[in-house]
Amino acid sequence: MTVTDPLSPRVTRVLGIQAPLIQSGMAGVAGPRLVAAVSNAGGLGVVAALRLAPDEVRDSIRKVRAATDQPFGVNIWLHDDVRTSPDPQSIPDDVVRSAQAVLNQFRIRLELEPTLDRPPAVVDLVDTALQVMIEEKIPVFSAGLGIPEPELVERFHRVGTKVVCMVATVDDAMAAVANGVDAIAAQGREAGGHRSYGQKHDRSAADKNPTAELVSAVVAAVGAKVPVLAAGGIVDGRGLAEMMKLGAEGALLGTRFVATQESAASDLWKTRLTNGQRATTFTDGFTGQWARVLTSEFTQEWETSGAQALPGLLQAAAGQDLFSRAKKLNDDQLQPLYAGSGVDQLSDVPSAAEVVQRIVIEARASLGSS
Ligand SMILES: Cc1cc2nc3c(=O)[nH]c(=O)nc-3n(C[C@H](O)[C@H](O)[C@H](O)COP(=O)(O)O)c2cc1C
Repeated sequence: MTVTDPLSPRVTRVLGIQAPLIQSGMAGVAGPRLVAAVSNAGGLGVVAALRLAPDEVRDSIRKVRAATDQPFGVNIWLHDDVRTSPDPQSIPDDVVRSAQAVLNQFRIRLELEPTLDRPPAVVDLVDTALQVMIEEKIPVFSAGLGIPEPELVERFHRVGTKVVCMVATVDDAMAAVANGVDAIAAQGREAGGHRSYGQKHDRSAADKNPTAELVSAVVAAVGAKVPVLAAGGIVDGRGLAEMMKLGAEGALLGTRFVATQESAASDLWKTRLTNGQRATTFTDGFTGQWARVLTSEFTQEWETSGAQALPGLLQAAAGQDLFSRAKKLNDDQLQPLYAGSGVDQLSDVPSAAEVVQRIVIEARASLGSS
């Protein structure tokens, strides 16, 4: 299938794709099946490598290569506290106890043993994953929650890999471009999942920069040097067209691709994204970093408690037993169901190829090109 968007020559040329659409790397969602489907449809599928062991990263890359000859990407977080995980022993006692006390209320409900213990250390898997990506000479490296340093960009460029960096501020966009990245995804506050900051930030920072405002500002700052893609709240061609009118050359989409047939998300998650009441909120109670999720009993209780999240991804490690039991039991109130604020416009679970085709057709119609 050929889907060419004549309105974005630069980004399609830079990334070697036909449609100016990137499917975000999404841990637990974006496996080889979704990635290959998006790339085969003319967009850029992106594997999520966060928390994968090196052999799992390599295996995912090889599975994608077996299923498509089109360009694809691999994504990982470069957050300071994920690259070098904090020592659980360094967290003050009262912080651990108050976080665990909130989790315990829900553990009891799911018949899990309450605990006030420190979480286990989180193994640092970022640098080993990066090494595998370089050895495998992947077509595109996608960085989130942090900016690749010039040496890392250079290592990728030496093996022919393009680098796309997702940012939440204009300053980060300028820093990433100064470090040599090939394209920027400007991620606004509407985005599903984690806000793209490389250091721990507070809720007010998470809530900053609506996508349209950020895109306009990032295009003004760096658009002459590299293509800028819009990320956050875009689920259809009209949304893409609006961003292109502001100077974006394409879009990076997460939530829309969670609700596709090839996504590895649970049926419960896909159902909650496409039906009924779908308010979203920011929480750091699931992982320790601020993310937009569907509002739930957990997000409300965590917020009301005023408890401080554990640093890095140690909050996820602390609640691992609870969140995985909730997933097993199909409990939609006690597990992270990440969603952008465009979620209330979703009503179906099509194939990933259909999503790409629809968006291209709608965007062309909105932009008045054929
Ligand atoms: C379920 C889910 C998981 C995500 N996981 C990642 C990830 O592993 N790495 C990353 O850089 N961004 C991740 N994101 C954030 C996206 O990169 C992107 O900013 C966002 O999805 C765009 O907004 P939208 O969801 O409204 O389309 C994730 C988003 C979602 C919805």
